[in-house]
Amino acid sequence: MLERIRAEIAAAGGWISFARYMELALHAPGLGYYARGARQFGAEGDFVTAPELGSLFGRTLAHQLRELDGPILELGAGSGALAETLLQEVEREYFILETSAALRARQQARLGSKVQFVDRLPSRFRGVIIANEVADAIPVHAVAWRAGGIMERGVTSELKWAEKPANGELLDSARALDVPVPYESEINLAASGWMRSLAASLEHGAIFIIDYGFPRHEYYHPQRSMGTLMCHTRHRAHGDPFLHPGEQDITAHVDFSALAAAAREAELDVLGYATQAQFLVNCGITEVLSQVNAENALHYAPIAAEAQQLLSPAEMGELFKVLAVGRGVKPPLLGFSRGERSHTL
Ligand SMILES: C[S@@+](CC[C@H](N)C(=O)[O-])C[C@H]1O[C@@H](n2cnc3c(N)ncnc32)[C@H](O)[C@@H]1O
Repeated sequence: MLERIRAEIAAAGGWISFARYMELALHAPGLGYYARGARQFGAEGDFVTAPELGSLFGRTLAHQLRELDGPILELGAGSGALAETLLQEVEREYFILETSAALRARQQARLGSKVQFVDRLPSRFRGVIIANEVADAIPVHAVAWRAGGIMERGVTSELKWAEKPANGELLDSARALDVPVPYESEINLAASGWMRSLAASLEHGAIFIIDYGFPRHEYYHPQRSMGTLMCHTRHRAHGDPFLHPGEQDITAHVDFSALAAAAREAELDVLGYATQAQFLVNCGITEVLSQVNAENALHYAPIAAEAQQLLSPAEMGELFKVLAVGRGVKPPLLGFSRGERSHTL
């Protein structure tokens, strides 16, 4: 991985953008963190996602899906845990679009003929698209607002940060943000393109994007002056994206305002935006919990702990958000029946 990155930096004259570095470190075929199919997920891995905690997340999300028609298309299905739970709950055609060949093989082994794999977004899809913790893996540009002007932060062959004056679309996007100087953060130009391609694919239905992130005014808050880059290895989170490239996850928080704006520009409706806790409560997580026999402590304790992790403001409850956009679907959706906050986007 290191050789591959260094070769590309040398060929580019000694510097590449951070977005390109992140793209290589995560997705370079056969070498990138996701492409290698290391066992990233679960207790033995580097991080735990909501579907990896257990089935509570999927069983609750299924209540929302029952309100909507058509097949399900899951983007970036990881270990296949969410698909497995959802398929037990709802009888639907289930498609997966997975960019990592290694993870796709893992999903195939787990789910077999219950799912169909697609290589690209279908044209004229009618149904429900789900992306849990996918948007945070889209490569971001790193930007610094300095006294001398707006700089793009990139990477040298020694895997060190180096800055160049920002230009083009990145400069325009950075100028539009009101931040104090000095300030460092990320701008995800590709996320808007991703949303545009989802919009072009969706003829009718809804798209649920679930991830950690904020609306723009919180993302680019004066106090968040060091940005949101985060790396995960063996359940340890840290801020050095140059440590063991290809062997650790690199993520940035999601700017949900940018995703909503791109969706609206592509003529999708914003159907709802809420914290994960509010969304899951609206979808009836407490009813799902109450079906579990509380007398049987051995069975109940792990599920109660799972609920705590999904809902607690100190864990995933508030940092994680659910954004739903769509076409031809009438709000309000179940998951946004209370505490809907799209006015903050
Ligand atoms: C952090 S994992 C989340 C996996 C799973 N959704 C979960 O919640 O456990 C990110 C997943 O998205 C995939 N991925 C990354 N970028 C993608 C893209 N542009 N389209 C589809 N999948 C993508 C990765 O290979 C991986 O499966």
